[in-house]
Amino acid sequence: MAVISVCSTKGGVGKTTLVMCLADAFARQGGSVAIVDGDPNGHVAAWRDRAGEDCTVVVQSEADETRIQDVIAQAAGKYALVFVDLEGAASQAVTYAIAESDLVLIPTKVSGMDLQEVFRTYEVVKRAEKMLRRPIAAKVVFTQMSPLQSRVAQHARAEIGANSIPVLATEIIQRAAYQQIHFTGATPSHRDGDPKAAREIASVLGELLEALADQAQAAA
Ligand SMILES: Nc1ncnc2c1ncn2[C@@H]1O[C@H](COP(=O)(O)OP(=O)(O)OP(=O)(O)O)[C@@H](O)[C@H]1O
Ligand SMILES: [Mg+2]
Repeated sequence: MAVISVCSTKGGVGKTTLVMCLADAFARQGGSVAIVDGDPNGHVAAWRDRAGEDCTVVVQSEADETRIQDVIAQAAGKYALVFVDLEGAASQAVTYAIAESDLVLIPTKVSGMDLQEVFRTYEVVKRAEKMLRRPIAAKVVFTQMSPLQSRVAQHARAEIGANSIPVLATEIIQRAAYQQIHFTGATPSHRDGDPKAAREIASVLGELLEALADQAQAAA
């Protein structure tokens, strides 16, 4: 029903990691969820193979720019929540995915250079809004934060806020638990997962679901 695209014009910010963690967390709460893999590198499919039988996340691959809108629309008709993982660039596929989205999540590290990419990504969302003549909600989430960066994060929040882009209250800290997902397939919400990372992910998911519920209520 609801579609969240996770995108940034910058590579390596943690998009795929977040998509896997959020989708798996929602699934383990009993929700039906699919990931549309819009990145030709196929990292999500590789993770899904490792995640095993007790993971109920469905992965839809082969969503290149010619198919991505249809793949997203079909998944949205079937699952309560659809996450779209995108490549770190401003490609046509990214614009098409944004066009199908209820919410765009923009992960970023907190350094000044990374923030420039937030603004570039937000411009892509704004262009899609103009094209479609409908508002598309976007939210920024700070990722891969070092515990020493809380002051920097305050500055980053102020700068992004000054440009009227909402930032999630929850921050994703840099943890080994996120890096090992690629090897073990187990996300933080797995029963053996890191509880601190699991709380972080549950909190991000909660903020996103609340934003979607508010949007749905406003539209009703
Ligand atoms: N919170 C985190 N803590 C520690 N490592 C992280 C965290 N998030 C992501 N990483 C690591 O950073 C690297 C890049 O993450 P990821 O592949 O999720 O980024 P991406 O934005 O999808 O990259 P790309 O643009 O190439 O698709 C990976 O090695 C991942 O394990
Ligand atoms: Mg990725």
